Amino acid sequence: MRVLITAGPTRERLDPVRFLSNRSSGRMGYALAQAAVLAGHEVTLISGPVSLAAPEGVRVLRVESAQEMCAAVQGEISTHEVAIFAAAVADYRPVEVPEQKIKKTGETLTLVLERTQDILGSARTVFGFTGYLVGFAAETERLLEHAQEKLTRKGCDLIIANDVSQAGIGFDSEENTVTLCLPGAQNVPLPRQTKAELACDLIAFIVQRAVIKANTSGL
Ligand code: CTP
Repeated sequence: MRVLITAGPTRERLDPVRFLSNRSSGRMGYALAQAAVLAGHEVTLISGPVSLAAPEGVRVLRVESAQEMCAAVQGEISTHEVAIFAAAVADYRPVEVPEQKIKKTGETLTLVLERTQDILGSARTVFGFTGYLVGFAAETERLLEHAQEKLTRKGCDLIIANDVSQAGIGFDSEENTVTLCLPGAQNVPLPRQTKAELACDLIAFIVQRAVIKANTSGL
């Protein structure tokens, strides 16, 4: 199968020397890319700025901003059967980016931000993707409720829900504990594992479900 994966943070420029970003290390997305290629799939990894080496055999497209990631996904998604959105995309970017460095003036500085495009939320409605669509939900409260709501609102087949309020898992760490949120209010918790182990289990599950979906929609 051809699998598209987004990973890492995005950087939203404030001026020529500063940006807004987040703590995503990209490890979960890179682990998924590695697991998918080891399982014999063709992988395109659209990656924000991270300090990880590209897994061997994976085609990597490097981007910086949410807008660049969105354009790359739009250009690629139609040739893939599975799309997994593991990137921590900035939800807002500065409205104006001055060409010169912002100098300090007053005691406070107000930044005006605007929404970025929801890439996962555009997959069905804007990009016309009909394959198996997987998103992540990183939440600090009411995990399953928020994840189930995202599943429906973004037209996903699966949301991988991540409780980022727990220390030692999720963002920027080696291990993760997730719950698979599926249509019909089905929630399947997985045991705590390293991201590499978890990635293998997730790829096996996703590919199996994608095959079932392709076979039933082709009938
Ligand atoms: N995502 C995306 N593009 C964005 C924001 C998010 O593709 N601009 C994807 C992420 O890769 C992830 C999923 O959407 O798979 C969930 O991200 P999240 O930011 O939690 O979703 P939101 O709908 O923005 O929810 P919230 O209101 O909690 O910020």
